[in-house]
Parts: sequence; structure tokens; C-alpha cells
Amino acid sequence: MGTDGSAWIVSRTARAPSNIAVIKYWGKRDEDLILPLNSSISVTLDPNDLSATTTVSTSPDFDADRLWLNDKEVSLSSHRYVSCLKELRDRATDVKDEKTGIVITKEDWKHLKLHIVSKNNFPTAAGLASSAAGFACLVFTVAELMGIKESFPGELSTIARRGSGSACRSLHGGFVKWEMGKRADGKDSIAVPLAEHHEWDDLRIVICVVSSRQKEVSSTSGMQESVQTSPLLHYRAKEVVPKRITEMEEALSKRDFSSFAKLTCADSNQFHATCLDTSPPIFYMNDTSRRIIGLVERWNKSEGSPQAAYTFDAGPNAVIFVPQKSGGALLHRLLYEFPPPEGMNLSSYVVGSTELLEALGIDKLEDIRSLERPIESPKRDEGHGELAYLICTRPGNGASLCE
Ligand code: ADP
Ligand code: DP6
Repeated sequence: MGTDGSAWIVSRTARAPSNIAVIKYWGKRDEDLILPLNSSISVTLDPNDLSATTTVSTSPDFDADRLWLNDKEVSLSSHRYVSCLKELRDRATDVKDEKTGIVITKEDWKHLKLHIVSKNNFPTAAGLASSAAGFACLVFTVAELMGIKESFPGELSTIARRGSGSACRSLHGGFVKWEMGKRADGKDSIAVPLAEHHEWDDLRIVICVVSSRQKEVSSTSGMQESVQTSPLLHYRAKEVVPKRITEMEEALSKRDFSSFAKLTCADSNQFHATCLDTSPPIFYMNDTSRRIIGLVERWNKSEGSPQAAYTFDAGPNAVIFVPQKSGGALLHRLLYEFPPPEGMNLSSYVVGSTELLEALGIDKLEDIRSLERPIESPKRDEGHGELAYLICTRPGNGASLCE
């Protein structure tokens, strides 16, 4: 009861971004604790463009834990939500809510139920890692509400990992490493920040959302099948990734875009080769994805050095990294080869930051038709409709409280 005897409600709201791996996680050594076969490195995306915002409330009036995602109630019965909430409740502390003066004890948290309301500012379950943003946000917000202080650095990331492996990296901003760890209990399998986002202030990220009717194999089951059947996966995890992690950390610390770009493309390509090496083979990329690879590779070759780098997760969408100074040139190439479908607005086709459109001097659809052919591009053919839209973004901050 509140101090005046009335029922009360205490809430916290936080936001957490999505992330994209540049050295990929693919394969678990422990399915329940979600422990990976190799370390991975990702970049956290600007929460203004791709994030989850979650409000968690508790009240003695609530009789069950419940979740509303994008205005619809969804079940919390899945093992992943259950284990995150259990790990959080086990660590809950005595808290006094500053706004209401309500005191909640460690003991109370065992019985109090949570209402979780979350919204994503980008498409959910569309291959843009909403699960990473969503689980990172859920864990961060509940931890704030329950006054949880980490007993070792990275403890919260070990809980977010139980929701979805890649979620552990979304707690931090900038470039983040998920250390695979060695321990059987997973206490050393944590996310560690490598570089703050402002250290890469001049990096731009263009996400090409590829139109796809095909239903993809989920990351969770795809990687299980690869672990069981792909010899390349085991070779990659043991022999290739450890070296690449070291090289990527070095490239990041030197701010060496050229090495970063080569490693990023090589790792994406090897991850997809691993999928092809799985039995039955898994095809996440489609013809449009391969055309985007061709576009970047041709550009890099014609300039004699990496201008941009691509990476693809478990789906056909491309994520392209480019230094700010070349961002307009990248957008030029993408819009030339993949003009928007007939009748679409420019602001629905290029979303997120308008900086690159401005750099290119484009403010209406007709401007795209008059774009000159980039020197290395093949003649324009009918690329209309292959891309659903583009998101222009940049590296950003990790999870943070909204109040
Ligand atoms: P994606 O490619 O977007 O990660 P998935 O199908 O792998 O797609 O994951 C989507 C699932 O992640 C949702 O069905 C839901 O269970 C969970 N999820 C997504 N966003 C949130 C959120 N904001 N809060 C809690 N869970 C979320
Ligand atoms: C290709 O984190 O979605 O995006 O741990 O089973 O939830 P679960 O898988 P998930 O896998 C992500 C795979 C990837 C690469 C990456 O993000 O590192």
C-alpha cells in the first residue's frame, strides 16, 4: 500500500538500440545459457533510428507478469522471457521510489508482478534485430526498476544474453565485443565496450531493406543446424574468428577503415558460406543481396581501396558502412541501381537521417531519375521495387533511462 493507504504503481522507462555484428556470432556451445562458440563484435545503431522503448511497472494490483509489444499483448511464457525475469528477480534489492516514496523490499519483489509495455521504432521481426533491442531494453529497464547493481562487470549482459545472444551487445554503445568466455556457468560470457560511438562519429550506416517474400530460417534454429552439420562452422569458430577478433580490435583502435571494411565483408561472406555448408543448406541472401555486394565490390575495386563495407545477418537485408565523406557517393550508387518503386515518396524510401540525401543534393524523386551513371556501374536496368526502403543511420549509444 502507498503511504496514504491507496494502491500504488511504480514504473521505469528506458530505450535500447539494435546492433549489427561485424564479426558474427553463429553457433552455441550451451543452448540454455546461450553461450556462443566464438566471440563476436558489433556496432550499436543510433537509437533515434532503431530502438525499443520499454516501460515496466509494478503494483500490488497486478496479478500476473504481462507484456504488450507494439500495442498487442504477447505471451511471456517462452523460456527466454521466463529465464530473464527469474534472473532479474533473484537480484532485486530494496528500493525507495523517489517520486512516490513507496518502499519495495527484496522480499516484496518475489511476489510483485510486472506489466511490460514496449514499442519498437522500426519493424519488428523483419530481420533488423528487434529481438536484440527488445531483450536488452527489457533487462535494462527491469534492472533499473528493481535497483539491481552488477556484482561483476557485465552481469546484466549475461542476463540479456539469455533472451537472445546478440541482445547482450545492445546494452553498450559504439563498438562492442561479446566475449565468448570459458566457464560452464557463463559468468565470463559478457559484452564489453570497445569504442564509444563518438570515436566513430564520421561513420555512416545505410541499411538496405530488401523486399523478400521468402520465410527465413530463424537465427536460433539456423545456427543449431549449422552446429550439427557444418564442418566449416567449427573450423571458423576455432581457427578463423579468434584471429579476426584480434585484427578487428586493432583496426578499431587505429580507426583504420580499410582493415575494418575488409574484415567486415570477409566475415559476412564466411558466415553465409557456413550457412551454405549446413545440411540442408540455408540461403539467407537473395539476388538483390548479391547485387548489393556487386555494387560495393565494383566501387571498391574501381577506387583501388575500400570505400564501403557490407554485412548481412540471417536475412537478405544489407547493412553498409561508409565514411561520412563518401556517404553521398554510396547513396548515389544505391539510388541509381535501385530506384524507388513507382509512386513511392522519397521520404518513405529513404528514412532515418536526411544527411546523405542532402549531401547528394536530392530533395525530390525526379532528382533520382537524373542521377548520372557512376563510372563503374553497369547500365541501369529495372531495379524498381527490389529494395523496400533504405535507413540512413550511424553508430549510437547503448541502453539508457528515459526519465
Ligand atoms: P528480429 O529479426 O527483428 O530480431 P526475431 O523474429 O528474431 O526478429 O525476433 C522478434 C521477437 O523478438 C519478437 O517476436 C519478440 O518475441 C521479441 N521482441 C522484439 N521486440 C521486442 C521488444 N521491444 N520487447 C520485448 N521483446 C521483443
Ligand atoms: C546472424 O542472437 O538472434 O545476427 O541467441 O538464438 O537468439 P539467439 O540468436 P541471435 O543470432 C544472431 C545471429 C546473427 C549474428 C550476430 O548478431 O552476431
